[in-house]
Amino acid sequence: MAAEIRPVSSDRFERIGAHSHIKGLGLEGLKALPVADGMVGQTEAREAAGIIVRMIKEGKMAGRAILLAGPPGTGKTAIAIAIAKELGADVPFVALSGSEIYSAEMKKTEVLMQAMRRAIGVRLHEFRKVYEGEVTSFDVKLTRHPYNPYQQIPESARLTLETTEDKRTFSVGSSITAAMIDQGVTMGDVIQIDAETGRVIRVGRSEKATEQYEIAAVSEKPVPRPTGPVEKEKEFVYTLTLHDLDEMSARRGGGVLMLFFGGAEKAEIDPEVRQRVDEMVKERVEEGTAEIIPGVLFIDEVAMLDIEAFAFLNRAMESELAPVIILASNRGVTRVRGTDIESPHGIPLDLLDRLLIITTRPYTAEEVREILKIRMKEEGVGAEEEALELLTEIGAEVSLRYAVQMIRPAAEVAREGGRERVGIADVERVNGLFADVKKSTKYLREYEERLLA
Ligand SMILES: Nc1ncnc2c1ncn2[C@@H]1O[C@H](COP(=O)(O)OP(=O)(O)OP(=O)(O)O)[C@@H](O)[C@H]1O
Ligand SMILES: [Mg+2]
Repeated sequence: MAAEIRPVSSDRFERIGAHSHIKGLGLEGLKALPVADGMVGQTEAREAAGIIVRMIKEGKMAGRAILLAGPPGTGKTAIAIAIAKELGADVPFVALSGSEIYSAEMKKTEVLMQAMRRAIGVRLHEFRKVYEGEVTSFDVKLTRHPYNPYQQIPESARLTLETTEDKRTFSVGSSITAAMIDQGVTMGDVIQIDAETGRVIRVGRSEKATEQYEIAAVSEKPVPRPTGPVEKEKEFVYTLTLHDLDEMSARRGGGVLMLFFGGAEKAEIDPEVRQRVDEMVKERVEEGTAEIIPGVLFIDEVAMLDIEAFAFLNRAMESELAPVIILASNRGVTRVRGTDIESPHGIPLDLLDRLLIITTRPYTAEEVREILKIRMKEEGVGAEEEALELLTEIGAEVSLRYAVQMIRPAAEVAREGGRERVGIADVERVNGLFADVKKSTKYLREYEERLLA
């Protein structure tokens, strides 16, 4: 069996708070259930998204793009998140808001390029020679620290590893000894040592040792003592993204200066580095030791992109290693940033032309009520029937987003008043205290002369 090693997935989705109730698209086959997986209504859009998910899984969508278009608060972001959930943890999903491309550290196109490459996974298979077994003896020899005579450091160790059929004793050097001590390896642990790099991996506590020594229940699940010889070839599977590989390769090439200037986080990456990585990946795919997993790059509020960014996207979609791109926009016909041209959704026509468009429509009062109920459950807030009715009215008239946002403050007011459930008065109170967009615009108009311009 191959061991899976994957980096802790970084900020897979930061803006998830308001959408934590969304668990998937709520489909049965390709049909949308009225209420399922936290999703309510919007059936056509969800069914269209379901087809997209199938195509992505079958690898038939790479390099193509989708636009979710509709008024504010109609579930565009929610559907994008549901698509991510349906694809599962193995498929990379990177989310970016249009305005995030404007940063002080990087060019706009570099931000987009890095996001695209984070949206493409590479599963690398590697056979490595390892020593594997249960530790049955571990005698550490200590020596004095070269600069600090009061400190003792491990110099070397004698180590015995046993499998069900084999037993080997080694003399290991200071770095392996230190790595073992750091990881708290003791007798009865199953470990692997990479023959080439000396990297030590503690696999777990052996079943046999657990039976013999431990009286109290252990929290760790015991692992069996390995079979076969101690020295063996083992397959490891690493799932990384193209961007991870770019960074690793850039750092190695960067030499000592990289230590001083660090910058791995926010630095631009040399196009040559990317080319090298692409070549390496392609070679390994041909060899059969790597697989490419095209993922999704979601760009929310796409009207914030400018003409340069759009041109870049257009070109990037044509490249061999491109993720599926999902865009979302709540704008009608508006100016394309960086030009004087008006265009639907603020997207240039040449890009618009190649998009598959999914539209979302405003919700009915019943749908709003259902969504509010789900959100309340998610936030652990109870409400009286009339309070829910008022919130539903607000949601249908003003905006769903605004009504969803009122849940927490209303719950705070109720708690302050010693009420367990939110009452109609609590909703009225917060609705009076906070302004929605319409109210705040009206306010601005009224007091225009008095506000700073
Ligand atoms: N069909 C739905 N089922 C359940 N929850 C939904 C649905 N549609 C929207 N929501 C929830 O309602 C809130 C507003 O929706 P969302 O943010 O997805 O709208 P949007 O179309 O992306 O709006 P904007 O154009 O302002 O970005 C979110 O909390 C979202 O999770
Ligand atoms: Mg949105």
